[in-house]
Amino acid sequence: MPQPKRTMLVTSALPYANGPIHLGHLVEYIQTDIWVRFQKMRGHDCVYVCADDAHGTPIMLRAQQEGIDPETLIARVAEEHRADFAEFRIGFDNYHSTHSDENRVLSELIYTRLRDAGHVETATITQAYDPEKAMFLPDRFIKGECPRCGAADQYGDSCEVCGATYSPTELKNPVSAVSGATPVEKESLHYFFRLADFEDMLRDWTTAGHLQHEVSNKLGEWFEHGLRNWDISRDAPYFGFEIPDAPGKYFYVWLDAPIGYLASFKQYCERTGRDFDSWLKPDSDTELYHFIGKDIIYFHALFWPAMLSGAQLRTPTAIFAHGFLTVNGQKMSKSRGTFIKARTYLDHLEPEYLRYYFAAKLDSSVGDIDLNLEDFTQRVNSDVVGKYVNIASRTANFIVKQFDGELLGVDAFCDDAAAADAYMDGVRGTAFTIAEHFEAREYSQAMRRIMEYADQINQYFDEQEPWKLAKDPAQTQRLHKVCSRILHGFHTLSIFLAPVLPGITARVATELFGLAQNFTWNDLDKARFPTRINRFKHLAQRIEADKVQAMTDASKEDLAAAGAPTGPLAAEPIADTIGFDDFVKLDLRIARIAKAEAVPEADKLLRLTLDLGGETRNVFAGIKSAYRPEDLEGKLTVMVANLAPRKMRFGVSEGMVLAAGPGGKDLYILEPHQGAQPGMRVK
Ligand code: MSP
Ligand code: ZN
Repeated sequence: MPQPKRTMLVTSALPYANGPIHLGHLVEYIQTDIWVRFQKMRGHDCVYVCADDAHGTPIMLRAQQEGIDPETLIARVAEEHRADFAEFRIGFDNYHSTHSDENRVLSELIYTRLRDAGHVETATITQAYDPEKAMFLPDRFIKGECPRCGAADQYGDSCEVCGATYSPTELKNPVSAVSGATPVEKESLHYFFRLADFEDMLRDWTTAGHLQHEVSNKLGEWFEHGLRNWDISRDAPYFGFEIPDAPGKYFYVWLDAPIGYLASFKQYCERTGRDFDSWLKPDSDTELYHFIGKDIIYFHALFWPAMLSGAQLRTPTAIFAHGFLTVNGQKMSKSRGTFIKARTYLDHLEPEYLRYYFAAKLDSSVGDIDLNLEDFTQRVNSDVVGKYVNIASRTANFIVKQFDGELLGVDAFCDDAAAADAYMDGVRGTAFTIAEHFEAREYSQAMRRIMEYADQINQYFDEQEPWKLAKDPAQTQRLHKVCSRILHGFHTLSIFLAPVLPGITARVATELFGLAQNFTWNDLDKARFPTRINRFKHLAQRIEADKVQAMTDASKEDLAAAGAPTGPLAAEPIADTIGFDDFVKLDLRIARIAKAEAVPEADKLLRLTLDLGGETRNVFAGIKSAYRPEDLEGKLTVMVANLAPRKMRFGVSEGMVLAAGPGGKDLYILEPHQGAQPGMRVK
């Protein structure tokens, strides 16, 4: 049954432009891309846009740290993001940036309309201010001791050691993470969006079927606490758009970020000659969908629809939230090597395998999904290679060799018309179910049904024993029918899998079946089954366990290469390059390890007493996993002698010892050559 053609705009959340894409992000981009490819295959007019989220304090500071303009930083990251997405075959129709003219114009338009309708007010607030850097500090840029457990170096909103949450003003001995200065309180005028003006509208909207039930229920709780004004301005210095009527004040990054969806679509419309304005009208008959992670529901399900409706624009048709990725059952972790960047994955494994695995795990809920690396290997090998690709690799050659590539159609490989009808009823029934699962984002159910279909075909192969038929000249006709039917099944499976495995199935379409283009859902029509097949070319390889190991090892190495400590300093940002000026500031010295002892409260740390040839220093080093304290005593090593002392939970650390290696047991202190004397300079 042909469905009426729908016109839809689909988005994924805009990744921040200060870091690489990792496998957690990819849950979302793969989930969205599968849905979009499915819609396009069904013949709908579906446009998929995204952009880099380029504004905000972290990006500004990151650029400063690297000694470059924010524009240079975001341009470089955008290139990396685009390359990662392309290799994972995320088929954006347009990819833009929030730091763009389109976005500035639209942000100003929406803000002005909200302001003119009375939805913006101002108020003076008090905020932490870094007097040295002359800037206001977001919570995550204030560090100090946890008010509950006293752990040092905790961020302004929560303690990583005991899990307490608090406000930055409660931190003991707070310091600015930017300059190390002690923050002061300072007043400033801020602009607020009056969210409460939209309470009625939002109560209706959030319960009118635009959200998953679990999300709507959760929002219900938020309404009970009352809708508070939303602070939409930030003071200079800030990387963003200046507010039109408020010099020195900038739009908070989360104001212009969702508008970035529209800005990217605007750029697409200008490039392709589509009418942008008609999409935005409140009565537009087009559909608008946002795929997001559960952490950003508040922005998308409350602020965004309120902003749109306050600016007399259309609201989203639906917001689809997904859960978070865990790896091997735990939060992604740099020290375990499970914080895996898209690029690191691509260096070792096939992108489509991750797409398949995520599809096999994803459903329409906001539940978290787990990437278990053993299960991943086993599942991909058994399903994609064992069940799907094997069908063609075992069958195609019979047709090519014995029948010169000629395939029989459904009416010819079935025994009679009734059998052909029954066979096609089976195909259509299965296709209907699978399409419903894709549409409902129940991909795990779609994959299960598809693999059941593959099981049936493999079972038919085993029962019919084509390899025996091929040896018996009296069975030639039978062999032709059997193999044609198996390959028809393979063709059907390829259509079902095309949204998930776009690369492999495109090769099946063009190389094996000789089609001019990739599959569409209409190709299920029996009249569209190709009449010929080409020689089978290798399509997919099993995953070797050592590749997976190499990927996790490399994820650990990434970290070692970046010089990131895995101990208490792990959260420190790392610059990609430092200038020569910074390099010469390092005072590297030979030190003799006079004494080494375990720190009982910390499983990674040793307390070292270092002799610098007259002067002694107390230094904590995260090398307990590699060295017994007694083995270190008397050794010479290299240390950074002019690192500012840091107060840690167990005492003050006065410098840093240099060590190298992938981590764990393999971590080596840098042992200088004989003749080195404590206190000698190294450079
Ligand atoms: N820039 C904002 C989004 C603005 S949208 C107008 C942002 N960026 S992000 O880079 O932090 O995240 C982008 C998307 O990836 C978000 O939807 C987020 O939920 C998702 N994920 C980031 N880490 C994730 C996991 N570990 N697991 C699953 N999704 C994750 O938020
Ligand atoms: Zn604590």
